Amino acid sequence: MNEKFTKIGFVLAMAGSAVGLGNAWKFPTMVGNNGGSAFIVLYLALTFGVAFVAFLAELSVGRLGETDVVNSLYKLAPKHKKTWSLAGFFMITAVLIASFYMVVIGWILYYIYLSFGSLPTQASDAGAIFGKLLSGDVASALICFSAVFFLIFYVVSRGIKGGIEKLNIWMMPTLFILLVLMLFYSLSIGDGFMQAAKFLFVPNFSAITGDTVLAALGLAFFSLSMGVCTVPTYAASLPSGTNLVRSTLSIIFINIMIGIIMGLVVFTFVFAYGADTTQAGPGLIFVSLTTLFAKLGVVGNLLSVAFFTSLLFAGVTSAVSMIEPFVFYLVNRFKISRINALVYVGIFVYILGVFCIFSYYEPTAANFTLFGKPIFDALDYATSNILMPLGAIVFSFFVGFMLKKEALVMLFSGFMSKGMFEAWYFLLRYITPLAIMAIMIYQLVK
Ligand code: PFF
Repeated sequence: MNEKFTKIGFVLAMAGSAVGLGNAWKFPTMVGNNGGSAFIVLYLALTFGVAFVAFLAELSVGRLGETDVVNSLYKLAPKHKKTWSLAGFFMITAVLIASFYMVVIGWILYYIYLSFGSLPTQASDAGAIFGKLLSGDVASALICFSAVFFLIFYVVSRGIKGGIEKLNIWMMPTLFILLVLMLFYSLSIGDGFMQAAKFLFVPNFSAITGDTVLAALGLAFFSLSMGVCTVPTYAASLPSGTNLVRSTLSIIFINIMIGIIMGLVVFTFVFAYGADTTQAGPGLIFVSLTTLFAKLGVVGNLLSVAFFTSLLFAGVTSAVSMIEPFVFYLVNRFKISRINALVYVGIFVYILGVFCIFSYYEPTAANFTLFGKPIFDALDYATSNILMPLGAIVFSFFVGFMLKKEALVMLFSGFMSKGMFEAWYFLLRYITPLAIMAIMIYQLVK
């Protein structure tokens, strides 16, 4: 019998997994690069039309199987049980993501430390500091990564209730409060907020291209932690009587709301202090924002601590959800202790994380490449563009075509009308897998 979340614990833990570095920089950066609000409208449409559908399917696997994903698939597959259970190994994708994701959380920790001192006022200095952390100051990168690594593994060692639920129950509300405080501050600085709101909310549909549609779909999947066994693993610990549809909607709502608040905060500063809205990924957060904070003196330092702490929390609650699926499987399959399972997973993640750091460190970079890219980038690319969508297709296909329809009708009957169920089932079988395949093929060939 596995440990169960409380109802609120489940929603917060799942939202904690969803809300992560993706919301902090992928979301604002993609909004910035794809014409603002039109991208948000698309992202919302795809989140509800495609990701929501597949999310419910992943939830069903965990809920009906009630054990680790490999065993759940084995239990639920009507035939070819062994082959289907192999799909549970998509949990390795989550572990691969964890290795480079924790390196980024390490950078965030380093920026919290920097926020207590004087921040760079010139973009060139800020760029140099960030560049040095990645390519020159390997000791800081390693120390921060190690600290983050031990924190995350410690949380997972405490299990679902005493570790993951507890962490999310205090980190998620704190993250929210920090963001709301920053949002209020943003309101007070001239017309930057109005410009940010206009940028985010007044749609400019001429900016939508084929690229935008697919980028928005990719973000929706990454952001909801799909295709990597996190959703079915957490769902295996659902308390009885949980309304699956309402919980999923709450998780999606929290995820979108936090993405939008982050976007408002980031773009208010960007507009108020004249930085570039199309600045890419890490540049927007680690370079533009720090120089903007630097202009505000002590208030800027406080804001910087608050901002990077909220990112730290968002990242940590996501990272624990990447580790748990594999640990849960090892504990069930080999009857070993959680600590032993964590040691095996930990050694793997730690070594890969160190490789990621060395793949950016100038003196060693040339020796740490994979398919012609730094290992860090290769892992990011392979997981987001190939493994995650592939996992999401396999789970949608499994639930749509392999699971007995009656089992799903029973599962959802209290939470959806008959018409809604049929619409969901149709989308799951015929639209979702095709839509995901479209993003995958597009991203591979573009
Ligand atoms: N949803 C997380 C984010 O937006 O940053 C990323 C993520 C979390 C991916 C958990 C995979 C995962 F298992």
